[in-house]
Amino acid sequence: MPRSLQVMSNTIVVGAQWGDEGKGKIVDFLTENTDVVVRAAGGSNAGHTVISNGQKYILHLIPSGILWEDKLCIIGNGVVIDPFGLLEEMAKLRSQGVKISAKNLLISETAHLVMPYHKALDRAREAKRGAKAIGTTGRGIGPAYADKIERNGLRAILLTQPEKLAVELRERIISNNEFIVAAGIEAVPVEETIEKVLAAAATLAPHITNTVVACHEAIQAGKNLLFEGAQGTYLDIDHGTYPFVTSSNTTSGGACTGSGVPPRMIDKVVAVCKAYTTRVGSGPFVTENDAIGDMLHNMGREFGATTGRARRCGWLDAVLLRYAVMVNGADELAITNLDGLDGLDEVQICTAYELRGQTLNYPPSTIEDIEACVPIYERHPGWKTDLSQIKNFADLPPLAKSYLKRVEELTGAKISLLGIGPAREQTLVA
Ligand code: GDP
Ligand code: IMO
Ligand code: MG
Repeated sequence: MPRSLQVMSNTIVVGAQWGDEGKGKIVDFLTENTDVVVRAAGGSNAGHTVISNGQKYILHLIPSGILWEDKLCIIGNGVVIDPFGLLEEMAKLRSQGVKISAKNLLISETAHLVMPYHKALDRAREAKRGAKAIGTTGRGIGPAYADKIERNGLRAILLTQPEKLAVELRERIISNNEFIVAAGIEAVPVEETIEKVLAAAATLAPHITNTVVACHEAIQAGKNLLFEGAQGTYLDIDHGTYPFVTSSNTTSGGACTGSGVPPRMIDKVVAVCKAYTTRVGSGPFVTENDAIGDMLHNMGREFGATTGRARRCGWLDAVLLRYAVMVNGADELAITNLDGLDGLDEVQICTAYELRGQTLNYPPSTIEDIEACVPIYERHPGWKTDLSQIKNFADLPPLAKSYLKRVEELTGAKISLLGIGPAREQTLVA
């Protein structure tokens, strides 16, 4: 059947802020009506929390779709994979009753591997940056992507070629140890590491395949693909608050290069954002507000899923969202955590920045300029209602509706989904 006659929808879900927008929850919600869930960027720096049937799951490398039986999950070529982290994650999910096999979890043979020396280098480089540290997750992400771009990386296909893997790995450990030792960090043990990686390889090998072909075969069979973004727009290596970013393209384009599914096969982009803003790690944050942070932390919210760090918090920043909608080509917004603002008398939205007497509708490109921006706020009366039990969008209090309507006006995207609590069923379709 010609593609144009098929009823299908390949959808990219991306983060519109600095990560932790609730992508995992939104992907979990959308998975019901999809067939294949694909991760295309990032690594185990991601931490996606999904709460379903009263159980809490935290996904780092495995697409959240794994929680649904009979869905195919793919870790695409754009992801960097820590084999040990992946095995730990598989074991944890299995202990929670999730079924994982080579039938429902495929790993791209061209995805790059995160090795123990990458983690050691991540730590060493952060220590060397001192006060200018990025605040990485310590998962070896930057060094692994650097090796990929430097054309010195090890790819997942090597996990199916143990003899070659041992040779290549030995060479890399020895040469990286020179830097690691010089940085005052303990050398990565050569033989022990090779042995451990080979053991992990034997377990992971059955999952490793050409996932580009798998994605295209699924599309040809009329299946729907859902791309689970990791991190967020302002952590993108090109479009984020560089250098306080991660090392991959976290925006929607990254879903194509990171999976081998071309742009013309993408039908929709959904940008996920919180009803306020958070950031974990260093870097500029125009609307940062300690009082909001204290309020949310006192509610037990906004602690990182991967590192447990308290997230920095602030008001919703429509300047960031407007630009994120543009860069990602987002048709729709999924707003999460609206319930976090339930108790407030007044809610604010940053509508523009003022920079040295000029009004900006989009964020500037240097850290110095972003840091010099003063947020221009609009004030909205709070709805002062517990939203967490509401079942229909239409039943939201009028003040919550008008806040959301204003977000649509300020960003140019339509709100399609709304989160009013962490559980799967606390998602309203607008
Ligand atoms: P991700 O990395 O984008 O998947 O987001 P995280 O899982 O790291 O962080 C989002 C946090 O918000 C998690 O603790 C979620 O359980 C929680 N969450 C997501 N949506 C909602 C919501 O609408 N309301 C509340 N209260 N929590 C939410
Ligand atoms: P999810 O997918 C929030 C941040 C780190 C640090 C910067 C670089 O859960 O939204 P890295 O370890 O990638 O080199 O760290 O990026 N960071 C995230 N922040 N959510 C994430 O993922 C993140 N992944 C990386 O805190 O500031
Ligand atoms: Mg997260």
